[in-house]
Amino acid sequence: MAVSYLLWTLFIFSIIFSLQSNSQEQQEEEDTPITRFQKYLRINTAHPNPNYTAPISFLLDQARLIGLTSRTIEFVPGKPILLLTWLGSNLNLPSILFNSHLDYVPAESEKWIHPPFSAHRTIDGLIYARGAQDDKCIGVQYLEAIKNLKSRGFSPLRTIHISYVPEEELGGFDGMMKFAASSEFKDLNLGFVMDEGQASPGDEFRVFYGERTPWHLVIRAEGIPGHGAKLYDNSAMENLMKSVELISKFRETQFDLVKAGKAANSEVISVNPVYLKAGTPSTNGFVMNMQPSEAEAGYDLRLHPMADPNLMEKRIAEEWAPSIRNMTYIFKVKGNLRDNLGRPIMTPIDDSNPWWFIFKQAVEATGGKLAKPEVLLSTTDSRFIRAMGIPVLGFSPMSNTPVLVHDHNEFLRDTVFMKGIEVYESVISALSSFEGVSAQVI
Ligand SMILES: *[C@@H]1O[C@H](CO)[C@@H](O)[C@H](O)[C@H]1NC(C)=O
Ligand SMILES: *[C@@H]1O[C@H](CO)[C@@H](O)[C@H](O)[C@H]1NC(C)=O
Ligand SMILES: [Zn+2]
Repeated sequence: MAVSYLLWTLFIFSIIFSLQSNSQEQQEEEDTPITRFQKYLRINTAHPNPNYTAPISFLLDQARLIGLTSRTIEFVPGKPILLLTWLGSNLNLPSILFNSHLDYVPAESEKWIHPPFSAHRTIDGLIYARGAQDDKCIGVQYLEAIKNLKSRGFSPLRTIHISYVPEEELGGFDGMMKFAASSEFKDLNLGFVMDEGQASPGDEFRVFYGERTPWHLVIRAEGIPGHGAKLYDNSAMENLMKSVELISKFRETQFDLVKAGKAANSEVISVNPVYLKAGTPSTNGFVMNMQPSEAEAGYDLRLHPMADPNLMEKRIAEEWAPSIRNMTYIFKVKGNLRDNLGRPIMTPIDDSNPWWFIFKQAVEATGGKLAKPEVLLSTTDSRFIRAMGIPVLGFSPMSNTPVLVHDHNEFLRDTVFMKGIEVYESVISALSSFEGVSAQVI
């Protein structure tokens, strides 16, 4: 009796279970903006070896369904750029571009509450996935917005391009950097570009008009080697340590401004030590009774667009790595702070830039509010486009969302994602209808 009761219970349970999993499968098969977002998120394009074939074929399918023309350009084998286009009615006007990147940073699965490549959606609507915020959200929102505009019969005056680029998370050198320098890019005749931004914990959307520029600096000291027991002047270590102290003092002056509330983190020059290299190796570590003849240190500097690059380099040459202390320096990376016409690489956010007002009005028309425009702490692909003199705003419409870029448990709420589509409908229709400025806004 007991055994048959148990079997009967198991039987009932298995029916309930299979019904449940069926309904779950049906849910997954639905084709909605949210499920399309989930599908795109599930295509794993994490570094170190993202395969770009699958995301591009997914996007090409979407483009075909929506009715956009497409082109794939490959500057580096295996690292394609996808360009989708909706032709405007006036081909003489500069076009507009909406950019996002195809790759994302890796995720440590075991530290996530839902697997990072499953795009699991919780009962309260949180979609957990690597790339949910950075930046597969905008990649799908652009398409969904265009799809809605098309179904409403909207037709753009200016041509609209959407680009999907590889390798942003590695610095964009094999992606946007090559694209921005190409004749294909020039032929697009771009007047204005939108690229990724960041989430905002408050009610307002964040928007970025510039970025800090990285300088990766290596300073090196040389000096007379000597016995570890002897006190003498000008050893390599001593000369390097003098510089390390000076650099730490400079770091403090900048950080004090932030701590005192006088400047935002992105408004100062940050300089952080990233490695030290010195000593004479031995079989079990380092030779301890010898002062080495060489020593070096690496620093990651980030400069605000308004910073004076000449002044900074003078400081490095005269104080941080002076030749009179037998020091030298090199830059592993030295980003430009001025564009080809010598102006700071920033997009104007005033009367001189009509695109700014159109964008702002279009966001406000959806009930959205913009926070005070910011300079980004780190870098995105926008810098390559701004350096060409083309205005770019960084914007990912995610309000009331914690900033989880590159963090564990990155998520985006479904309603925030859907609101973003509405915002882009407004932004894309407004920007592509703009009649003025026949030449590029510079
Ligand atoms: C990338 O993925 C595609 C299928 O999506 C496969 O055909 C191709 O061989 C892969 N490329 C590499 C380099 O693994
Ligand atoms: C620079 O190096 C030379 C040769 O090793 C040495 O004689 C001199 O004292 C060093 N000067 C300083 C300031 O370190
Ligand atoms: Zn990003």
